[in-house]
Amino acid sequence: MWFPVIIVSTCILALQEVTAAALASDPAVLLLQEYVQINTTSNNNLTPAVAFWKKLADAEGLPFNVVELNQGYPIVVIKWAGSNSSISSIMLNSHMDVVPAKQEDGWKFPPFSAHIENGVMYGRGTQDMKSVSIQYYEALRRLKANGVTLLRDVYMTLMPDEELGAEKGMIPFLQSEEFAKLNVGVELDEGTSYDIPSIPLFYQDKVVWQIEVTCHGVAAHGSTFPPNSATATGKCANVINRFLKFRDEEYAKYTKAGITDAGPYTSVNLNRINGGVANNVIPASVSLTFDIRLGTSVNEEEFEARV
Ligand SMILES: *[C@@H]1O[C@H](CO)[C@@H](O)[C@H](O)[C@H]1NC(C)=O
Ligand SMILES: *[C@@H]1O[C@H](CO)[C@@H](O)[C@H](O)[C@H]1NC(C)=O
Ligand SMILES: [Zn+2]
Repeated sequence: MWFPVIIVSTCILALQEVTAAALASDPAVLLLQEYVQINTTSNNNLTPAVAFWKKLADAEGLPFNVVELNQGYPIVVIKWAGSNSSISSIMLNSHMDVVPAKQEDGWKFPPFSAHIENGVMYGRGTQDMKSVSIQYYEALRRLKANGVTLLRDVYMTLMPDEELGAEKGMIPFLQSEEFAKLNVGVELDEGTSYDIPSIPLFYQDKVVWQIEVTCHGVAAHGSTFPPNSATATGKCANVINRFLKFRDEEYAKYTKAGITDAGPYTSVNLNRINGGVANNVIPASVSLTFDIRLGTSVNEEEFEARV
């Protein structure tokens, strides 16, 4: 069952009213800016990011722990103690790493500048997902500053390699003694960024299927003329057409769903096309990679059979 909850607090609405200049000098925004300026491109040394979080934890007098199950891949755990540590905790997870970004890729401002212009911050990781980490921190810091003690322990966890598949971070962490000790009852994680003055909160995720289809056909000189049914590209064209027809059907469902409801449709994107050896050679094989996110009511066996 898909059930989005929209939180619209007065605090969020107030964001619309502050001027860009006031926003750019907000301490929370400056904190995000400082964090985005740390180049945490996957596989970079994360020591500066860990130091950033240690400084923030120390400022609040919070227990700070680094779990390093694989060398060079630190997992940061910051504890905000509740009043009863014997009941299950709340885990607020985010990842420190970001996907690569180069100025040449068309950035208006350097990707690790976190430059703010007209109330917009430019920087790799601003949305995915350093802003979320700062939101967690700010929410907890403000509760504490207002003398609020929560019933449950809350842990902020910050992962090192989410963008690489989490093999050195979250996956082994979930099997570790350190994780078991947190006694987690519920976890919040990343979602999608929206250009709207509210924060939709989802409690369902979509299954990711990334499938590669390799088409084989006759390999021949580019001057010969085999039929489409015999070539790798002809066969792949057939596969592409079928997938895109399905994509159109799902796209129609997507346009009917609300912005906060990603459950009713299966998204399909053809993200890679590989093949070919030379301009004058008909290739023996061509491969296609589709990135598919299953709708939440899709039966996986049925979908596999359809594929
Ligand atoms: C950020 O780190 C990546 C990976 O090490 C590197 O290729 C890139 O040049 C760095 N960017 C800047 C602005 O230092
Ligand atoms: C803490 O929670 C446990 C489990 O619900 C309960 O048995 C215990 O009485 C609680 N302790 C306090 C101090 O409220
Ligand atoms: Zn992310």
